[in-house]
Formats: sequence, C-alpha cells, structure tokens
Amino acid sequence: MTLAVSALDDGGGATHGARHVAIIMDGNGRWAKKRHLPRAFGHKKGVEAVREVVRAARGMGLEAMTLYAFSSENWRRPEDEINDLMGLMRTFIRSDLAEFVANDVRLHIIGDYRVLAPDLVAMIDDALAKTAHNRGTTLAIALNYGAQQEIVFAARAAAVKGDITLEAIEAELYTADMPPLDLLIRTSGEERLSNFLLWQAAYAELWFSEVLWPDFTPAHLAQALEAFAARERRYGGR
Ligand code: FPP
Repeated sequence: MTLAVSALDDGGGATHGARHVAIIMDGNGRWAKKRHLPRAFGHKKGVEAVREVVRAARGMGLEAMTLYAFSSENWRRPEDEINDLMGLMRTFIRSDLAEFVANDVRLHIIGDYRVLAPDLVAMIDDALAKTAHNRGTTLAIALNYGAQQEIVFAARAAAVKGDITLEAIEAELYTADMPPLDLLIRTSGEERLSNFLLWQAAYAELWFSEVLWPDFTPAHLAQALEAFAARERRYGGR
C-alpha cells in the first residue's frame, strides 16, 4: 500500500497522532442494492470490511477503534434485517475471537447490549472476559447504542454520587477507559452523527467518505489518518 504511508507506523510509531478513531459504517444496503442483492449481503460484506480495518488498526498505531454496529434506533428496521445483523454478530464473535486473543485486541461494548438475545449476551460476555487483559488495541462495538441515552445514564450516575461535573459525567460514559476520540469517520456520503458519540465527538475531527462501507479498506482508513494529520486542532483556542 503506497497511500498515506507517511502518516503511518513504519515500526517506529505513528506520526498521525490519532489514538482513537470511530466509524459510522454506512452504506451496506446501497452496496447490495447496486448489485441487485438482498441487504443481508451488504451487511455480510460489511463484516469483511470490519475485519480488515480492525486488523490494520494496530499497524497504523491506533490504540482504540469504535464501530457503530447497531444503534438504539435500528430496532425500527424490519425483523428479518435485525435478525441478519444479530446473526452476523454471532458469526463475527465465533470466527474472530481467537484472533483478538492472539493479537492482543481488547473487546469492549458500548450500549445496552444486555437486552439482546440471551445466547448473544453470553457470547459477548465470554468474549469480553477472554480479551479483558489484552492491551494492544481496544475494539469497541456499539450495540443498542444511542449517545443521548448514554449521556442521560452518565449524568444520572454522576448525580447519584453528588458530583455533576464534566469530569464526573465523562467518567460514567461507556468510553471512560478509552483514549479521547480523535477522528470520526462516516462512510457512504451521509454527513451527520446519527446519535453516535455525541459527547466524545466534542473536539473530534470529522471525515466523510463517499465510499460505501463494504468497499471501505485499510487504504481508506490510512487516507483519513493522513487528512487528520494535516489538520490543526485548536480545541477552541487560537
Ligand atoms: C448501515 O448501513 C450499517 C448498519 C446499520 C450496520 C452496520 C453493521 C455491520 C457493518 C455488520 C456488523 C458489524 C460487526 C462489528 C460484526 P445501511 O444498512 O443503513 O445502509 P444504507 O444506508 O445503504 O441502506
């Protein structure tokens, strides 16, 4: 891959400076439609893209990656599609858990995943336990996640402790033990946050790609990191 190597880790550490990247993986349905295939094929191909991007993340020097797999609003989709997505989650854990363990990937879930099917909850809990001590890359998957609800839960927990400060609320977010979000990517040409990481995105850089998620490759991630490296972050200062 020749694209954007200057911002990447060549063994001596990443120069782009990003620690945590989040992705809204959009466009699976349109990818399938363009090929006259059922939407399920787009999601299936989307999982392959997830696998390649996660594999590449560590080599690119990223400490954490957060992926929007199922939002709290996605329950409004047809039952068949919801079942397809949950089935893919099961397959993904079954097929990739050993690789996470071997490659020092720590799995993390953001969102209220405990309302999912009991067998899936058990698989997730098992995967969380088996990767809990890994320190290489944190892979956070958003499942039944909504940022507004996350902020409500966090504010409530902070209030119970009698400390409604910025730091106290932040410490109650699902992402509390992750590095600050540096870069948020959305694929498929849509340019909105869709209730994803609203608090965490306060100072994140945003990068929108026309590429449909199933076509997104590590080279596109590298391109986003290259663009990130070129940006000047001021955090409200001058
Ligand atoms: C958006 O595409 C994508 C989703 C709602 C689901 C994302 C899920 C995956 C990539 C697979 C499961 C993930 C993991 C981590 C195993 P869309 O269906 O809204 O596409 P459209 O806007 O083109 O219709």
